[in-house]
Parts: sequence; structure tokens; C-alpha cells
Amino acid sequence: MSITVFGGEKGGTGKTTLAVNIAAMLAMKGKDVLLLDTDRQGTASFWATVRDEENIEPRVACVQKFGKGLPAQVRDLAERYDEIIIDAGGRDSMELRYALGVADRAYIPVQPFQFDIWTIRQMDTLVEMAKGLNEELAAFIVLNRVATNPAIREDRETREFITREDFQHLALAESMIRDRIAFRKAARDGLAVVEYGQDRKAVNEMNQLYEEIYGD
Ligand SMILES: Nc1ncnc2c1ncn2[C@@H]1O[C@H](COP(=O)(O)OP(=O)(O)OP(=O)(O)O)[C@@H](O)[C@H]1O
Ligand SMILES: [Mg+2]
Repeated sequence: MSITVFGGEKGGTGKTTLAVNIAAMLAMKGKDVLLLDTDRQGTASFWATVRDEENIEPRVACVQKFGKGLPAQVRDLAERYDEIIIDAGGRDSMELRYALGVADRAYIPVQPFQFDIWTIRQMDTLVEMAKGLNEELAAFIVLNRVATNPAIREDRETREFITREDFQHLALAESMIRDRIAFRKAARDGLAVVEYGQDRKAVNEMNQLYEEIYGD
């Protein structure tokens, strides 16, 4: 059993996209997975509703929870599921802080083209605070929506920059996800890219991320 958070204070970085994809992949491997949506925008819940309405198998259980009771509720849910995936979006960082307090690992998507060092430093501090209560927490930056054109070397530049910054509490994930239309099309239909299946490269990237998180 483990609890994985997709979070970060910046909007639109791909938290929900990665959370729903990983949740569906866990379900496809036969895991009893819960997708926990702590963002009042409800994007992950909407995805799960579309999936249900379209009768897509396997079903991905999804609940929305907010506010003070969150840590106790997550611990309780963790007893009942193999894996919990938390989409900790939203501008208010209360849910994000709570989620970091109970999670085994956190993935913070960062887009090279909207790279914002201030919010990453902020995350480094949030993770440091969370580790005061939750020593086991491991937190990673994962590059998302990296340009597909190899001539644009933004992934290398961003990696070098992050390495130079030498964050105390954030590591850089080895796998990265590129900007691929399949992510948007799959999400619209309540699918993961591995199910949507029309973009081999997107599938490979998600498989790599999955392996990095769960070890095949
Ligand atoms: N790798 C990708 N390739 C193409 N499009 C992507 C990718 N990742 C995310 N997107 C798109 O970018 C937009 C923002 O992604 P998403 O909703 O996952 O971000 P978020 O961090 O959850 O946003 P919010 O802060 O609003 O919760 C969506 O339209 C999504 O489909
Ligand atoms: Mg979101």
C-alpha cells in the first residue's frame, strides 16, 4: 500500500493529467486504487465520472475530499485500498499540505515553458515542513509537456538548471512526459493514454513514469 500525491502550487502544470493516468494504470494492473480529488475544481472527479458513464473498465474509484479532516480520512481510506493517488490541485495549499503530511511520495509536475523557480522553492519549503511530521516522504519534480521537437533543448536546460539549484528536499524524476495531444484527447474520453493507445510515445513515457514510481 502506498499514497502518492500529484501536487504543486502552480496551476495547469499537469497534476490532474498525471494523477488520472497513473490511477488508471494501477487499476489496469489489478490494483484496488482510489483516486482522491482534493481540488474543488473537480477535474479528476469529472474524468472518473466520464469513465463511469462510458462504462470503461477497469473502473477507477474516485472521491472528493477537502478541509481539516483530510489526513484522518486518507489514513482510513489507505486501510481499504491497495494504492491511493491524490490530485492535490487548487490554489489553497491546505489540502496540498495535508496530503504531503500523509503521503509516501509526491510528484510535482513542472513545465519547462512556464518554469517558475519561485514556486519550486516554495515546494521545497513545503516538503521540508511536511518531512518534520512525515519523515518517509520522498518528493520529485517531474518535467511535463516538454517540447517534442528535439531541436528545442528545453528538457536539458531545465534539468541543468534544477540540478544547479540543488534543492534540499526535491529530487528530479528520471522520466519525463512530453507535450502530446493524446493526453488531452484521452482525458476528454475518461481514458488514460495507455488505453487510448494512438500515441506509442505517450504510452512509453507513462510506462516509464509508472515504473519509476512503482518499480514495474
Ligand atoms: N503531457 C501533456 N501533453 C499535452 N497536454 C497536456 C499534458 N499534460 C497536461 N496537458 C494539458 O494541459 C492542461 C492542464 O493540465 P492539468 O489539468 O492536468 O493541469 P493541473 O496542474 O491539474 O491544473 P490545475 O492547476 O488547474 O488543477 C490540460 O488541458 C491538459 O490536458
Ligand atoms: Mg488539476
